[in-house]
This record gives sequence, C-alpha cells and structure tokens, in this order.
Amino acid sequence: MINAKLLQLVVNASNDGICVAEQEGDDNILIYVNHAFETLTGYKTDDILYQDCRFLQKDDRDQPGLDVIRQAVKDGVPCRQVIRNYRKDGSLFWNELSITPVFNEADQLTYYIGIQKDVTEQVAAQQKVQELEAEICRLRAQLAKQQG
Ligand SMILES: Cc1cc2nc3c(=O)[nH]c(=O)nc-3n(C[C@H](O)[C@H](O)[C@H](O)COP(=O)(O)O)c2cc1C
Repeated sequence: MINAKLLQLVVNASNDGICVAEQEGDDNILIYVNHAFETLTGYKTDDILYQDCRFLQKDDRDQPGLDVIRQAVKDGVPCRQVIRNYRKDGSLFWNELSITPVFNEADQLTYYIGIQKDVTEQVAAQQKVQELEAEICRLRAQLAKQQG
C-alpha cells in the first residue's frame, strides 16, 4: 500500500490540477488542491480552502458545460467537460475538467476529485481551423459565382 507522504509527492508532481472537495449543503467545498492547481489558477491554497470551485467562473456562468457538470454532481456520477475559467489575475483559460465521485466502504458518496487540464492552446487551434474552414467555404462560393 502506498504511504501518505509518497502519495502527496506523486499528486504534487502532476502537471494537471488536482483537487478534492466535500459536500456541504449545495456546495462542494475544497479541502485539498495540489501545486499545479495553484500554478494554473494563480490562487494559493489559503485563498480558496473551503470554497466551491465555481469562483473560477467569475461572471461567466452561462455555459452549456456547466449544466452538464451541475447535473452530474447532483446525480453523483463522473463527468468531463471543457469550460471557460479565469485565473486570479482575471485571465481566461479553457479547463478540461474531469470530476469523479469517491465512495466510502459503506458506499456513501464522501468526496469528489477534480482534475483541471489547461487546454487553452488546443481550443485556440480548433477555433483557428474553424475560421480557416469558413474562409475556404467563402472563397469557394465566390469562385463558383465568378465561373458562372
Ligand atoms: C471536485 C470538483 C472540482 C471542480 N472544479 C471546478 C473547476 O476547476 N472549475 C469550475 O469552473 N468548476 C469546478 N467545479 C464545479 C463547481 O464546483 C460547480 O459544481 C458547478 O459550477 C455547477 O454548480 P453551480 O451551478 O451550483 O455553480 C468542480 C466541482 C467539483 C465537485
């Protein structure tokens, strides 16, 4: 069995953010975040302990991915969605967020684990491809018109 110190070293060595939250009323409050979470979001553990992670959305709350996450958390099932989040300095990053419920031996949902992966570059590349495809379509239509 892996010991707690080694486990903490491993979790802190991760490139992706890792956090643990426990349910309190309608919220899931943070009880642990790793180094990568602090680096990615700009928040230190002491700034955010016992808060629900929704502070990372600032005012950008109207996102389809959040409806999926809200339902999954309500149902106690895993989910993965790409959503817009904001660092402490206000800058945007795209977060591929994976949330997994953890059950105890009595099969009660006790914690959630969240993994935050910064996919900002991939999303920007996808947006560029879509723009270029739209431009190609526009040029093709223009050409077809000119040819008669
Ligand atoms: C373990 C865990 C990690 C979460 N991590 C994030 C996160 O990184 N960014 C985010 O915007 N929401 C995150 N959430 C989702 C929010 O906490 C919340 O569930 C979501 O905003 C939907 O609920 P609401 O409509 O009440 O805000 C996380 C939730 C859990 C349980």
